[in-house]
Amino acid sequence: MQGYSWRNNKGDGVVNPRTEAEITQAVIAQLAGSQDPRFKHVMTSLITHLHAFVREVKLTEAEWMQAIQFLTRTGQTCTDRRQEFILLSDTLGVSVLVITLNHPADSGSLESTVMGPFYWEGSPVMPLGANLAVDVKGDPTFYSGRVLDAATGAPIANALLDIWSGDGEGNYDMQMPDDPGMKARGRIRTDEQGRYWFRSIRPTFYPIPMDGPVGDMLRAMGRDPNRPGHIHMIVSAEAHRPVTTHLFVANSPYLDSDPVFGVKESLITGFDKHAPGIAPDGTRIEQTWYTCEYDFRLRPA
Ligand code: BEZ
Ligand code: FE
Repeated sequence: MQGYSWRNNKGDGVVNPRTEAEITQAVIAQLAGSQDPRFKHVMTSLITHLHAFVREVKLTEAEWMQAIQFLTRTGQTCTDRRQEFILLSDTLGVSVLVITLNHPADSGSLESTVMGPFYWEGSPVMPLGANLAVDVKGDPTFYSGRVLDAATGAPIANALLDIWSGDGEGNYDMQMPDDPGMKARGRIRTDEQGRYWFRSIRPTFYPIPMDGPVGDMLRAMGRDPNRPGHIHMIVSAEAHRPVTTHLFVANSPYLDSDPVFGVKESLITGFDKHAPGIAPDGTRIEQTWYTCEYDFRLRPA
């Protein structure tokens, strides 16, 4: 490499950096044998920025060890039901940055946001109108709307909504004691006119998991752990780009301070309140219930 002072102490082909400044170049030079140009590009940038960060903050050995222990605990906190690294990425704004770079907002189509750690693949496929939240605490809510092509406005038949939320107290099934299995989850397909409707609960705000290393980090930063009320969905359809997103409850507390930076204006929607009486599915509901109507516009693939 031009301008680089190479030194080979042992005569065995190993190149040793002489100065602090040479260390970064020496590490980057080790990518010379990589066959993958994208990998090389990403790693070169990662090494450059990581070294620049260490220099900028003049990282002490104690801090370096603290970081190693933090990342070790982050890994140890992961299970098949909990992804502490995703939580770390979410709370540092990396997840939403990656999503926003890869799915830039364009006028009118459905915006994406973070997936979060509570997605559970393979939830039951349910018929239109199904109740996803049988035996789940919370105010009954009837969701409806259409899935449309963002370019033409045409309804999309057979689009899939993969839906999940916490209960009306902000707890996801994965966090509930005694492992109740899947709750407040399900997959629904649109009808011939692109319409969907299903029953669940009105989601409420809740704190992200604070009992692990990410919780320690948020406390050290003085941050609030509460996410505003939202229901998750992945909306997909043939020949269209799938979107991982939420609907946020308008007027929910914490819409302005989401700890994972996931709120987008276009995803905030009203939940209309109804007095006890006959619900859209024809049943009588003896408590306050809600309706939420929202159309999802998917971009052609
Ligand atoms: C969630 O909404 O499920 C969530 C997202 C990011 C971090 C924690 C929870
Ligand atoms: Fe959530």
